[in-house]
Amino acid sequence: MARLSRIRRTTSGAQILRRLAPVALTALLFLGVAATAGAQAYPNTTFNYTTEVNEAVTHLWDQLLFWATVVFVIVEVGILYIIFKFKARPDSPDPKHIHGNTALEIAWTAIPAVILAFIAVPTVKTIFMTQAKAPANALQVEVIGHQWWWEFRYPQYGITTANELYLPVGRTVNFKLNTSDVLHSFWIPRLGGKRDLISNRTNYLWMTPRDSMALKALNGSCTEYCGESHANMKFRTFTVTKEQFASWAAHQKGPAVYGAVTPPTVGVTPAVAGAAATTKSGQVGTELADAPAPAPVGFVFPREKLDASSLPTATPPSSIAFTAGLSGDVERGRQVYSRSSCIGCHKISGNPMSAGVLGPNLTHFGSRYTFGSAVYENTTENLVRWIKNAPAMKPGSLMPAIGNGEYNPAIKAKVTMGGLSDQQIADVAAYLLALK
Ligand code: CUA
Repeated sequence: MARLSRIRRTTSGAQILRRLAPVALTALLFLGVAATAGAQAYPNTTFNYTTEVNEAVTHLWDQLLFWATVVFVIVEVGILYIIFKFKARPDSPDPKHIHGNTALEIAWTAIPAVILAFIAVPTVKTIFMTQAKAPANALQVEVIGHQWWWEFRYPQYGITTANELYLPVGRTVNFKLNTSDVLHSFWIPRLGGKRDLISNRTNYLWMTPRDSMALKALNGSCTEYCGESHANMKFRTFTVTKEQFASWAAHQKGPAVYGAVTPPTVGVTPAVAGAAATTKSGQVGTELADAPAPAPVGFVFPREKLDASSLPTATPPSSIAFTAGLSGDVERGRQVYSRSSCIGCHKISGNPMSAGVLGPNLTHFGSRYTFGSAVYENTTENLVRWIKNAPAMKPGSLMPAIGNGEYNPAIKAKVTMGGLSDQQIADVAAYLLALK
């Protein structure tokens, strides 16, 4: 104890700071590494310069962090100095008793005011910049939030799609944000900016993806709690070149190319490496490898540009069994689809029977990589089970269970009247996947 107090007495504040320096430097080094690794290691990072909005917000963040660090260091150094300089020692006299200090009081009022000014000026500037109206020639995209999926409309192109958003780089996109039910929030982290979808109100959010962002698959999600499948309300954004966008848009505007694709044979081990999982018993496989080259269908984001973070990995619950070895037939599937309850909610341009608007527009469903609000990869394996029992795959799904004999957790009953057999479901899946 005596030795300890001797050490304490002989250790000055400056010496302690010197000892802490290597620790502080190491911490800074780690922070630096984490910051530079950002975009690669964290596919949903928002600290980058991919759009002018993102740059403005990231720049503002950097500025505030800088000033906050300066204030932090000054305050901490001051505290440490006071602690060590004025600590009670066995022989120290009583501290001087004072009452009030005008200079000090003016200083600690004025300094925070100056700091606030430093923060307010760039903050207000950034707010004005991001709240300004989008340029008149911007690409207009109407975003409509639904429990629990995203509808995207391109009014200038006459396109309605769901859960997958194509954006050309180098052109400002102006999102018009509305909700069909409760509050949601629209966010593509990599592009920055985030805005709520509010009932009976229209919000806007615009940004211009940089040319360097061409051919990126970006995650998007709902960031406002909106009910039991809030976490399942995701979407994908594909940033493409202007030419690719024009090709995609020209095709999406029209009805699906239907019949140009050979029916997939369901129940055969796929020849395409990685196209579908090898299966436990009771699972179907999918086979599209031998299909002839389909008719020109416009640009579709290339599969090889998708990475692990942009393809969903969720698998259907094992409770949904499916007969193995069934072959789906596109034409049969079209007939089954066209007389089933599907048409009450879904629209498929080119199929006059299918004109529902409650559910996602399925016109070019076969050209999408995901379904169920980007929760599942768009494979035959997943799709047949989704058609069979969607509520079991996504809590609260308005899409009912359709498979004959399936238990529908939403209505706490088994499907009896009008349920589809596994064969019929395989046919419907074949039809939907043929809609390119
Ligand atoms: Cu929509 Cu959370």
